[in-house]
Amino acid sequence: MAVGHPLRRTPLWTVLRGLNLIESDLLDSMKNQVEQSLHNLIQEQLEMGSGEVAELCSEILLAGGKRFRPLLILLAYGTCGGRDFDEIMPLACAFELIHTATLVHDDIYDGADQRRGVATIHKKAGLAKGVIAGDWLFTMGFGLGGRYSEEIVEIMSKCCADIAVAEFQQFDHINDLATTPDDYFQIVEGKTAGPFAAGCKAAALIAGCDAQQAEKMYEFGLQLGIAFQLVDDLLDLYGDDRLGKPRGVDVYEGKMTLPIIHALTLLHGEKRDQLSEILSDFGDEKFTQLIDLLTHSKSIQYAKILASTYLERSEFALNDFEQSEYKELMLGIAELVNSRNS
Ligand code: IPE
Ligand code: IPE
Ligand code: MG
Ligand code: MG
Ligand code: MG
Repeated sequence: MAVGHPLRRTPLWTVLRGLNLIESDLLDSMKNQVEQSLHNLIQEQLEMGSGEVAELCSEILLAGGKRFRPLLILLAYGTCGGRDFDEIMPLACAFELIHTATLVHDDIYDGADQRRGVATIHKKAGLAKGVIAGDWLFTMGFGLGGRYSEEIVEIMSKCCADIAVAEFQQFDHINDLATTPDDYFQIVEGKTAGPFAAGCKAAALIAGCDAQQAEKMYEFGLQLGIAFQLVDDLLDLYGDDRLGKPRGVDVYEGKMTLPIIHALTLLHGEKRDQLSEILSDFGDEKFTQLIDLLTHSKSIQYAKILASTYLERSEFALNDFEQSEYKELMLGIAELVNSRNS
């Protein structure tokens, strides 16, 4: 099979609709195996009598996420020379289950009604069941991850604990117009980039890489994860129906994302006053005005440039790994992050 740049030949919107239309048999088959493993896991739980909690979780879990985390874990394992994919699949699924758990909880405190194109669990079944369903997904994830060595379990638990720390920090900065880029990056590292990094590093270690190579994989995931959240924050301002989650949630919530932090620093006088007024009392009718101000201050452009910089850094981290189709696909996924719309 031709390796080259398999992702670049496919229209991006097609690629992004689930990753299963990428011209790569390898990626297709990996994605199918992830889907199948997640499906089997839920099926087993249902057969064991887990009932409503498993049903509610399966609706979100199997609703079609992009599966970036499990795919990167499988690809990182392959890039590091691992070939027994049955050995790594439980880790890939563990990270997807944990990621989905964070989404279920995130939607509660972000007040979101929709996720992956379907109603959120708390919207459908109430707050208490939403919290418990998120816990169930976390537990299932740790159940799968717990079969690995102590080192791997520690990597997983540290990244989950860091998500909580970062989400608390994010709450402290709600509506805080003095939030700095440093605050922002600290939050993003904890809540998003950390889990990407942890997954890639753990995969490298399971494949038998040495500590130095495992750190390179960590670096890849970290830089990619930062770019991923920068793009996600831009999509919150610009996204459309393909997102599968509501647009503008960040602004309504008073979340200080990078374009907003940048604009608050750059604008002055009347325009700065307008921006803080819009942020303090946001409504749908103010969206255009907000985007105009962020464009005027070149804050959108700034965030886009930074996302590209972080992506380049992630690609750089893979330099020392031998060329392979796995590595090529990792780089391809990194490229997709910049132009994703879902
Ligand atoms: C959403 O993650 C949460 C963020 C870290 C921004 P994804 O955009 O990967 O969500 P799914 O898994 O594809 O639904
Ligand atoms: C995602 O941040 C962080 C998580 C750990 C879930 P967001 O709150 O921006 O994620 P979305 O936009 O709701 O997917
Ligand atoms: Mg959130
Ligand atoms: Mg959210
Ligand atoms: Mg978001």
